[in-house]
Amino acid sequence: MFRLDIDEEITLIQIQESHAEELFRLTDKSRKELREWLPWVDGTKSKRDSLTFIRLTLNSYEAKKALNCGIFYRGKLCGMAGFNSIDWQNLNAQVGYWLATDFVGRGIMTRSVSGLIEYAFYELELNRIEIRAAVENSKSRAIPERLNFKHEGVVRQAEWLYDHFVDHAVYGLLRSEWR
Ligand SMILES: CC(C)(COP(=O)(O)OP(=O)(O)OC[C@H]1O[C@@H](n2cnc3c(N)ncnc32)[C@H](O)[C@@H]1OP(=O)(O)O)[C@@H](O)C(=O)NCCC(=O)NCCS
Repeated sequence: MFRLDIDEEITLIQIQESHAEELFRLTDKSRKELREWLPWVDGTKSKRDSLTFIRLTLNSYEAKKALNCGIFYRGKLCGMAGFNSIDWQNLNAQVGYWLATDFVGRGIMTRSVSGLIEYAFYELELNRIEIRAAVENSKSRAIPERLNFKHEGVVRQAEWLYDHFVDHAVYGLLRSEWR
């Protein structure tokens, strides 16, 4: 099972079927804040839905197309981060993430994404990391900005969120630009 120690507080562990209950409870508690930016929240109504999601991520990992991790902060699941897609042809991966509301504001995500970038460039030998966030999602945009990604542009009406489209800000980081 994939595991990445970020620092003394944070470990990323590939999400497993055994995490379904904890993942559902975490999602359910932050439902209101998460649904503002994430399209899958209303469809996550029970532990069974979290389990279905976890199984999909494990299948994608087997197919070498993605790697989705739980973020464990001082041993407790607090959110997710990982590579939502990996394009081996072009050595490019897209990073996605979310945190439960109680864990926002401690630098957990910036540290986690930084660890994923190191892993992507030096272990997977990828060349480019992309992060997309809704233009108005300032907390999410702050993560690539803090990590010196380049703002490459805006994709208009890129995502349907329940009852409206949002534009995406696209950020890219090249291996040659890291550190
Ligand atoms: C996007 C999201 C993960 C950002 O969470 P976050 O807690 O703001 O991000 P971090 O964990 O990196 O923490 C950064 C904050 O902690 C502070 N911080 C404390 N210690 C820090 C450290 N060691 N390193 C960086 N920041 C630190 C920063 O100053 C910042 O606070 P500020 O927002 O008051 O400036 C979170 O808001 C979220 O999950 N939102 C809902 C879902 C979502 O939008 N997902 C992304 C879709 S694209």
